Amino acid sequence: MKAKIYYFSGTGNSLYTARKIAKEIGGAELISVRCDPDEVSANDADVIGFVCPVYEWDIPGTFKKFIKKLSVNKDAYIFMVATYIAVHGKCFETVAGLLEEKGAKLSYGKAIHCVASQCIAYPPFPPEKIMIPYMEKQMNKTAKEIAAKTQRKYPHMGWLSRKRYNSAMGPYLAAEHEYDKGFYTNDKCKKCGLCMKVCPNKNITMENGHPVWNHNCHGCNACVAYCPTKAIQFQTPQAYKELGTFISKILCLPDKRKRYHHPDIKAKDLMSDKESI
Ligand SMILES: Cc1cc2nc3c(=O)[nH]c(=O)nc-3n(C[C@H](O)[C@H](O)[C@H](O)COP(=O)(O)O)c2cc1C
Repeated sequence: MKAKIYYFSGTGNSLYTARKIAKEIGGAELISVRCDPDEVSANDADVIGFVCPVYEWDIPGTFKKFIKKLSVNKDAYIFMVATYIAVHGKCFETVAGLLEEKGAKLSYGKAIHCVASQCIAYPPFPPEKIMIPYMEKQMNKTAKEIAAKTQRKYPHMGWLSRKRYNSAMGPYLAAEHEYDKGFYTNDKCKKCGLCMKVCPNKNITMENGHPVWNHNCHGCNACVAYCPTKAIQFQTPQAYKELGTFISKILCLPDKRKRYHHPDIKAKDLMSDKESI
């Protein structure tokens, strides 16, 4: 049996999930969204997985483009796992729709509650101490179900979210290209280029040893979260400032903006485009 799991991950929650599933299946190739879909086709796979975070009630745009271009074995068992904090929106419908265009079907879909990673907008929450063991529990159950090739109807977007999608998400989607305009490095930058290597969007180039962001950013926070000297600073776009203030206020979050990434996913894990488990 051949299993291939394709993933997008900024702060490691989704890569950690993909690895858990691969181990439970008993071996799989893990393939990053950074690869060229034409070179990593899923035509020869019996089990195909897609694992990614929810961004703005959908999947990250780069992952959408990747799946659109990817060829798949129509008869495979195909699963999708989304990591998120509270609202998964239309992310499963998006992937199911892309598969349908290829004549394939989503056999299993599940969303896993994780630590919110949008640290340029608000501090990570809920606390890792509570959330990491809870994530583990959800992931173990999910991995077992997938390894047993369980069929599971994927979650749909709630009627209220559907009704409010454009008005609720419009300002954030419009601000997406503003994200990296506020990124810069301070004098702690060691010119190591790690930020360039962990970026799932290949959005960072190095010029005179320093990172330059090229405005193809989804705000995944990988560069910020994994910078070894915390040299990457950011200005929060206006739309996210309001969201951040609102979330921080209702959840009484601390002012200190910790740079979250999954504790078991290191920069080197995100740097490898393919791994076999
Ligand atoms: C730009 C951005 C947008 C997000 N949008 C949503 C969202 O619409 N709904 C939600 O529940 N979580 C949202 N989140 C939280 C992430 O889905 C969650 O933290 C995810 O586990 C991160 O995965 P990763 O660590 O693999 O990058 C968002 C996070 C970021 C960075």
